[in-house]
Amino acid sequence: ETVAVVLAGGRGTRLYPASTATTPKQFRTFGGERSDGARSSSDASDGGDESLLARTVARADAVADAVYVLTRPAYADRIGDHAPDAEVLVEPEPRDTGPAMLYAARELAGRHDDPVLVNLPSDHHMGDGYAAALSRAAGVARDTGGLVTLGVTPTRAATGYGYIEPGERHGDYAAVASFTEKPDAETAARFREQGYLWNAGVFAWTPAALFAAARDAGLGEFLDALDRDPAAAFAGVGSVSIDYAVMESAGDAFVLPADFAWDDLGAWDAFERVLDGDGAGNVSLGETLAVDCENCVLAAGADDHVAAVGVSDLAVATYDGRTVVVPKGEAERVRDVVDALD
Ligand code: GDD
Ligand code: MG
Repeated sequence: ETVAVVLAGGRGTRLYPASTATTPKQFRTFGGERSDGARSSSDASDGGDESLLARTVARADAVADAVYVLTRPAYADRIGDHAPDAEVLVEPEPRDTGPAMLYAARELAGRHDDPVLVNLPSDHHMGDGYAAALSRAAGVARDTGGLVTLGVTPTRAATGYGYIEPGERHGDYAAVASFTEKPDAETAARFREQGYLWNAGVFAWTPAALFAAARDAGLGEFLDALDRDPAAAFAGVGSVSIDYAVMESAGDAFVLPADFAWDDLGAWDAFERVLDGDGAGNVSLGETLAVDCENCVLAAGADDHVAAVGVSDLAVATYDGRTVVVPKGEAERVRDVVDALD
């Protein structure tokens, strides 16, 4: 059985103010998708379309025998609005993706017969070919008994991703020679030159494979505590992503190169990669007006409006009465606003 686990417990801080602790980006609509997998800006309003989470669940439905949405307690009641047919798994407390994925694996090992779990981010842009890649990843996880990731060819020296060094080839996939989560800029540039792949954030494994890798990574005590009392186990563990917790040290990992359009919509500049621009390179989400602007990203929520005049290379976003303005090339720094507001 192939069981999809859609991760929908993150806060998506860099897309503030469209993404906040109360309404993180997976609950937002960022416009319709063109048939070629990119987005059209003409129908990119924030209403009447499906949220990123709803779209992820629909895509998972097409390849999995069962679909679960895994989230933190604060978001549990809202999942049904986006995925009425999916089952909801709620981790006891937010501790990032490491503890959450281990919790899901333990739950689902008990509910399904010999499952392969395909773990999916809920907040990404994925083009055609995604469904085939997911099925294949599940097959490789079953055949190898290892941890399987999808790898994307880097297009810039981004520091917000995991980098995978491909090792020995086995047909359409390769062993993972090394995995480095979020390297510094210099290292990222070197990795890119050396042919490393970005980790797309999609993982396939059997529960047994994940538990073995987690034990090797020193998480045996947490796993034993999970068996006894999940709430107590979460109370006693720190926040850590699956990438740092397990993937960086995993011996038995494999990467399947992904050949579909992919973007994690991490920060405002992402939209210039997935939306069509106007003649001057401006992209728009929702009701916006650009007069004499160049290469700007303008974004407005359902009841909002943004106008910009005579500026270039800016991202301006207004949602729910909150506005952020940032040089497009520094869009990652929106995280600092959220830290300052917290
Ligand atoms: N249930 C649950 N609980 N889900 C969570 C939690 C949590 O505590 N934290 C994050 N998530 C969800 C997010 O909503 C998102 O769908 C997914 O898990 C990934 O989390 P991010 O926080 O967005 O991770 P990242 O973008 O920093 O890094 C990961 O994704 C990159 C690709 O986009 C890593 O896997 C990188 O290696 C990878 O390159
Ligand atoms: Mg992300």
